[in-house]
Amino acid sequence: MLPLTLDRADPRPLGLQLADQVRRLVVAGTLAPGDRLPSTRRLAADLGVARSVAEQAWDQLRAEGWIEGRQGSGTWVTGGAGPAAAAVPRRPAPTTATPLVHLDAGTPWIDGRHAAAWRRAWRELSSATPPRGYDDPRGLPELRVLLAERLGRTRGLAVDPEDVVVTAGTTAGLRHLLAVLPRDPVAIEDPGYRAAVLTVAETGRAVLDLPALEPVTDLTAACAAYVTPAHQHPLGRVMPAEHRLTLLATARRDGAVVVEDDYDSEFRYDVAPVPALASLEPDLVAYLGTASKSVSPSLRLGWLVAPPHLRPALDEHRRITHDAPAWPVQRAYRALLRDGYVDAVVRSARRTYAERAPRVVAALSPYAELAGPVAGMYSTWLLPHDRALRARQDAEDAGFRVTLLADHCRSADLSGLVVGFGGPTDEQLDAGLAVLARSLAG
Ligand SMILES: Cc1ncc(COP(=O)(O)O)c(C=O)c1O
Repeated sequence: MLPLTLDRADPRPLGLQLADQVRRLVVAGTLAPGDRLPSTRRLAADLGVARSVAEQAWDQLRAEGWIEGRQGSGTWVTGGAGPAAAAVPRRPAPTTATPLVHLDAGTPWIDGRHAAAWRRAWRELSSATPPRGYDDPRGLPELRVLLAERLGRTRGLAVDPEDVVVTAGTTAGLRHLLAVLPRDPVAIEDPGYRAAVLTVAETGRAVLDLPALEPVTDLTAACAAYVTPAHQHPLGRVMPAEHRLTLLATARRDGAVVVEDDYDSEFRYDVAPVPALASLEPDLVAYLGTASKSVSPSLRLGWLVAPPHLRPALDEHRRITHDAPAWPVQRAYRALLRDGYVDAVVRSARRTYAERAPRVVAALSPYAELAGPVAGMYSTWLLPHDRALRARQDAEDAGFRVTLLADHCRSADLSGLVVGFGGPTDEQLDAGLAVLARSLAG
């Protein structure tokens, strides 16, 4: 019997409800071409409705071309050879294969207190009601106060809460900036952050390649330079002090804005976090921060501190577009910040990464060259492209996903692997590293 139910409270005629449900069964693959359908008499009896209801459904579906056949010869789903073709293959059942374990650069380790902290945050939220209108276009004021305080304390940024704009993550912040910057090309590190490249290209701007490890000495053609000074993505290097000064001097001379993507700078475990570039020249630097690396990328929450000359246009853009993260997310993050959870999770993640990073280095350094100091939750390894490809395939065959360095390159001629160690469990990490080491040793 077909899984059909009729809802007498539904204002649509029963025949049309029935037709709708059968249509959905065909679209979902539950009914395949050639499948035989019951006669209108049987169908009406099964469903306890008048036969005219079943006839209306079959007439409708026949008129739309979903079913064929006539009184006496039976009715079947269009596309097969008729009732005899009952063995037409069905859409394959969804597989239950184990998903790949991602050893990626983007998934953070999560503290065991996570669930309790979230429960508290949601409980608090459950007794609050959303603001009635469009609230402050920059985001929840109480959250901006806490973000400004934390940026001062952890990143050396002296910011007023009024200057912080809450975003739905790094690329959302970049999109806001692109909306108010001149429509000139944007220079991005190469290799560099692919999401930034795509976000810039989607605005119709050209992307200029900034060799990631070299000083930036020319931005005459660009309205902005997108950089990851605290932890070059994906090569891992900290931008040397003299390169920072050169970049700022170049941006000032050429009238460009420096966009600082400060994605995982808190996760230094050898030295204290390197202060943000924006703390040196706030007038030149647009600072992008994110909750993705400390709390969760699925939250879609970040913050932007723009240079003063862009702020009025940015506020106006947000006022018109209302393009802010959802209020419950902002409220919940405010509770997490206020209760010290974000500080606690950063501290414990730092300890975990400090313990895991040497394990990754011990496993892979006999076979590959480390591209930069290990910080954050991933390390990048230089290898000939064919060996990197083979290792990636061997890892995938064994259930692990790693990224090719070449996928982050545009004109840079670099190859190797980017190996993340935040997301997996300890056992998964060790197993993944063993697979990679075996492949690279072979
Ligand atoms: C270089 C870089 N910046 C930023 C992010 C975070 O982006 P978002 O805040 O949009 O989650 C990532 C995540 O992997 C990243 O690799």
